[in-house]
Amino acid sequence: MKNPKIALRHLNFSASKSLKFLLFSDLHFSSSLKDAFLDDILKVAKKAKPSYILFGGDLVDTLDDIAEEPDESRLVSFLVRLSLVAPVFLCLGNHDYYRTAKKEITFKKNRLKNVLKGHENIHLLVNEAFEDENVYIFGCALPPEYYHPGNPPYRHFAKEDKAALVSLLDSYKNLTPPEDKISFFLIHSPVFLKDADVKEKLKDFNFTVSGHMHTGCVPPFLEKIWPSDRGFISPEKRLFPHQARSLKSDHNIILPAVRTVARSRLLNLPFPPALTILNTKK
Ligand SMILES: [Fe+2]
Repeated sequence: MKNPKIALRHLNFSASKSLKFLLFSDLHFSSSLKDAFLDDILKVAKKAKPSYILFGGDLVDTLDDIAEEPDESRLVSFLVRLSLVAPVFLCLGNHDYYRTAKKEITFKKNRLKNVLKGHENIHLLVNEAFEDENVYIFGCALPPEYYHPGNPPYRHFAKEDKAALVSLLDSYKNLTPPEDKISFFLIHSPVFLKDADVKEKLKDFNFTVSGHMHTGCVPPFLEKIWPSDRGFISPEKRLFPHQARSLKSDHNIILPAVRTVARSRLLNLPFPPALTILNTKK
């Protein structure tokens, strides 16, 4: 069967520099993901000729999916080839932390960082910033405790923990990006980004870029006729959540998922893989 066509969303903003960015999120890489599909993403990236590529988290479906070869090498080779198009910047998603081997969930916070280290143009930003002459990109690593609060933590995927986000933001020494560069705050979950206190802390960034919400499972044809930030269902199974999608003028960019469901071709049919081109113009 032919790969599904990749949908492209175009965003245009005025900014201090004219640049092109390729944004995508929630690849949920697994052993069932075919090389031909990854090649299609690469083709789109090459054609777009972006200066930077940003990824919003959930690179893998679980760490089990890169536990064995050839899968780890397939994923790394995809990112290496992507990084030949433009430097790649990633933040961690909740799926990037855990293994479920023998139905026991175990958390391995540094596994993905170790897999991707040593590649010059691949930057997994774990509570740190990258800066060059054009951009300032901060990668926020929401910890497993944020997604799995409680005592003991990690028991289930419960309500996301705003207090954990606020204390993480407070722990950063400097959240004031340079004004003459295009600045991004990469954070997997957008759930609290419109809350006044969180917004205030991130007010100096030009853009936040998130994934996680998978458009609340709203398929593209409905997105067009229902312009709203609401989805049908959130990752933690809340109905009609806000912050599931962003409008074209929104500087809080919430990216659709490359794959809504990791392993089912059928369930992914209404949700073609989606990439976003962000153009900034002086
Ligand atoms: Fe995801």
